[in-house]
Amino acid sequence: MKDHFQREIDYLRISVTDRCNLRCFYCMPEEGVDKKSHRDILRDEEIIEAVNAAVKIGLKKIRITGGEPLVRKGIYTLIEKISQVSGVQEIVMTTNGLRLKGNVKKLKDAGVKRINMSLDTLNPETYKTITQSTLHLEHEQLIQELIENEMMPIKLNAVLLRGINDHEIPDFIALADRFDIQVRFIELMPIGHLNYDYKTHYISKDEILKKYPELMFEQKHLIAEVYTIKNKRGKIGFINPISHHFCDQCNRLRLTADGKLKPCLHTNNEIDMRKHNQQELIEIFKSAIEQKPKQHQLNKKSNPIHRSMNKIGG
Ligand code: 5AD
Ligand code: SF4
Repeated sequence: MKDHFQREIDYLRISVTDRCNLRCFYCMPEEGVDKKSHRDILRDEEIIEAVNAAVKIGLKKIRITGGEPLVRKGIYTLIEKISQVSGVQEIVMTTNGLRLKGNVKKLKDAGVKRINMSLDTLNPETYKTITQSTLHLEHEQLIQELIENEMMPIKLNAVLLRGINDHEIPDFIALADRFDIQVRFIELMPIGHLNYDYKTHYISKDEILKKYPELMFEQKHLIAEVYTIKNKRGKIGFINPISHHFCDQCNRLRLTADGKLKPCLHTNNEIDMRKHNQQELIEIFKSAIEQKPKQHQLNKKSNPIHRSMNKIGG
């Protein structure tokens, strides 16, 4: 179905939990997560009902996100159920990778085609600083496991933070080359609690391109700009919601873990999806598409977004 601005909306991001096993400082509220009780989180049947309605109006690609989706109990069964809904063409997932080891095949068997893994640093000490956690991610083994299971193309997402991981850009470029994968640099967004110094940590794409002339523009791919690396394998992608917003390409709706449908990530507009029958759900999806704004207003200070990312799903 098309929205008012002729955008074909065919992509639904489903946050299956607001919990996460990390506490990335730019994402999680400082006071900790006000954990929703299980009663507040959509049950499998409610998610399946929503997916059934979504496919009826042409949403056919599904991304499973969180929080961290792999901490939801029964996640593999849920994905299997989603993949059995007729009309669902593709299921992909975004994860921080911590529960991925040894499970890639299981996810693939459940129906997941591709995985985007969030990884902001290759350095174990910096990992502790960013995630405020002592957990450790063996990213190279995981990339290997993704390659063995042919989850292509493999994409790693790194939120760039000045003074924290920006000196690792050459390491990320080397990693992209070594495994012939795509590393995507995500621009830090002013979203959620903002009790860190956003301005200090924000870095723009233009600044990086100036510093690394070996990155050569290849193509625009939906929301990312893709660059090849001179004389190297792999690719670097940029996702820049702030400096180059891509709202005109936006093809998605978001379903939050507590059952709210969001026409746009960057507005506070949410429509409650719970306790509705199938026909009502279809109407709600239609109305969400109709309510999609032309573009976000993130650059305007007057519009703070209340939900932090762990409650929306990156
Ligand atoms: N800016 C940019 N990306 C964010 N994410 C979370 N918070 C932010 C933010 N403020 C993204 C990260 C993370 C995923 C869950 O959401 O990529 O890994
Ligand atoms: Fe970090 Fe992603 Fe978890 Fe947020 S949801 S704390 S960004 S891993």
